Amino acid sequence: QREQHLRSILATIPDAMIVIDERGNIILFSTAAQKLFGYTEDEVAGRNVAMLMPSPDHERHDEYIRHYCETGERRIIGIGRVVTGRRKDGSNFPLELSVGETRTDGHRIFTGFIRDLTEHRQHELRVKELQ
Ligand code: HEM
Repeated sequence: QREQHLRSILATIPDAMIVIDERGNIILFSTAAQKLFGYTEDEVAGRNVAMLMPSPDHERHDEYIRHYCETGERRIIGIGRVVTGRRKDGSNFPLELSVGETRTDGHRIFTGFIRDLTEHRQHELRVKELQ
């Protein structure tokens, strides 16, 4: 009942939301995230979030998380950054990433919000063309 309720709320959030554990494994993948990346929740559940990005972040993302967990040094959390994502079909796109951290009984989980900047970029290019 409660789970259903949460899922229906999640389905209405326009930005993609992804929740991972401290190893980077995907716990939750919102409806908007499924649309944006082209994967169903079943295809990504329990897999590493690095599957959603190209090199070099793809190979380094575990290390980014480990570095943060060991030092507490924030490079994205509370700051945000424009980075590159990779869809299921292999195409890359610009996105704005914000990450938050939550601690629940000895574990930590990270919540990522992703805004697709593809249209934004196309707009910029179009404006440049017109100038
Ligand atoms: C750190 C890339 C998605 C969680 C980072 C860093 C980069 C990055 C470049 C910082 C590395 C540094 O400066 O040392 C990406 C890319 C993504 C992505 C390209 C595309 C899909 C996510 C998502 C989450 C997440 C969805 C969480 C659900 C984290 C965490 C850190 C991190 C916890 C370490 C904390 C911090 O640096 O503040 N990521 N990330 N990332 N990312 Fe991601």
